[in-house]
Amino acid sequence: MTAPLKVGLAGLGTVGSAVVELLQHGRDKLLARCGRPIEIVAVNARSRAKKRNIDVKKFRWVADPVALAQDPSIDVFVELMGGAGDPAKRAVESALAAGKPVVTANKALLARHGQKLAALAERRQVALNFEASVCAGIPVVKTLREGLGGNSFTRIYGILNGTCNYILSRMEQDRLVFDDCLRDAQRLGYAEADPTFDVEGYDTAQKLSILASLAFGTRLDPKAIYVEGISSITLADLDAADQLGYRVKLLGVAVKTGEGIEQRVHPTMVPKDSAIAQVMGVTNAVTVDAEGLAPITLVGPGAGGMATASAVVSDLADIACGVRTPPFGRPAARMTAVRKAPMQHHEGGYYIRLLARDRPGSAATIARRLAQQNISLESIVQRHDNMARNMARPGRSGEPVPVIMITYATSEDAVRKALVAVRRDRVISGRPQVIRIEKNRA
Ligand SMILES: NC(=O)c1ccc[n+]([C@@H]2O[C@H](COP(=O)([O-])OP(=O)(O)OC[C@H]3O[C@@H](n4cnc5c(N)ncnc54)[C@H](OP(=O)(O)O)[C@@H]3O)[C@@H](O)[C@H]2O)c1
Repeated sequence: MTAPLKVGLAGLGTVGSAVVELLQHGRDKLLARCGRPIEIVAVNARSRAKKRNIDVKKFRWVADPVALAQDPSIDVFVELMGGAGDPAKRAVESALAAGKPVVTANKALLARHGQKLAALAERRQVALNFEASVCAGIPVVKTLREGLGGNSFTRIYGILNGTCNYILSRMEQDRLVFDDCLRDAQRLGYAEADPTFDVEGYDTAQKLSILASLAFGTRLDPKAIYVEGISSITLADLDAADQLGYRVKLLGVAVKTGEGIEQRVHPTMVPKDSAIAQVMGVTNAVTVDAEGLAPITLVGPGAGGMATASAVVSDLADIACGVRTPPFGRPAARMTAVRKAPMQHHEGGYYIRLLARDRPGSAATIARRLAQQNISLESIVQRHDNMARNMARPGRSGEPVPVIMITYATSEDAVRKALVAVRRDRVISGRPQVIRIEKNRA
């Protein structure tokens, strides 16, 4: 039998312990596929004394993850500690510098240092595999890098954060407000005690930067991404979306435009009949638009120990089989700087909900401000029905009246300018709600 692939594993938490289990249970299948066993020989975590649901005594314990990464007895280093800084960064760099392939699930590390790490892996002619870092169990990295390696991409977008999709799904299906759904998500372990990173869109942005780089051959640059979270979404928006034929999802979107690559994360209205609109709960989905190909949507578990471990083990199997591809699908030196398409130039349809002061001339002023920016309306509704009652108690003289507008394609700049003018005119109460609309490809 060929020598086993000897694994050093740093991180024995949700994902690390699932990897230990999966390698044990899948041992024979992996042996049949790769022609050699994959064996964990040494491990590391923060605390050796911690009680775990796996038996780590049979593995050698190495107190320092950086020492483990360079340990001469291992063939491959698996990093499952997390975090963009040390020890994850130094451990991954050390393993690569020592000529050892690396498997990681660490989106934060890749989003911040992916370019340098890919160059280092290339110089040392070893693999840097990170299938688990985006959408866990959905093989989206390989789909972009290998399965569609010969295609030109025009747009890639997806539900990349299960917590947000869970919250929006619960709000819509159970008619609960944001805060109640967030509390449930925390109780069920879908959301952290501090949910900011998820609900304000930063987690989605890190994943989007990895996908955009794979799709468009650009250097990773999370700062090039416009980010807006879901905490301002109300039941009124979800009701309006429903009646207008849409659902609201937090999407990460990367699009090729005439100006460069537009990368954005924000609540988005998607047509109810689109594949992405069907994705509810903690499930993730990614739609890929490539030239000459009907859109492809991948749907599956975007988090969880076993789902993430499945991607880690698949990456290990590639290494055991001797498969090595450039980490981001092309030599690191040929990854180009992101030519950032400014968000102000984003073109698309918009949903705008505002509370118009119920006094003569308000509607005409709003219409005039939109017209001044050449914004045409596909529909406009002044709500005096149940939906409206979720926003205010309209109808009595002097009280605000909810107005919902859907625009034809226009620019972000035009919408922002029109709304600044409307607010200055004092014909609305509070802040207008704006949700961008993402259509299916024509
Ligand atoms: N969980 C998911 O669903 C999921 C999905 C996709 C990707 N990921 C990624 O997978 C990675 C691991 O996530 P996880 O959910 O398994 O995290 P986790 O449950 O918090 O486990 C982290 C592990 O790393 C160890 N660790 C943390 N800091 C360390 C340090 N300074 N030195 C040594 N060991 C350290 C911890 O040790 P102790 O056990 O001793 O505390 C623990 O074993 C992260 O990059 C995450 O973004 C996770």
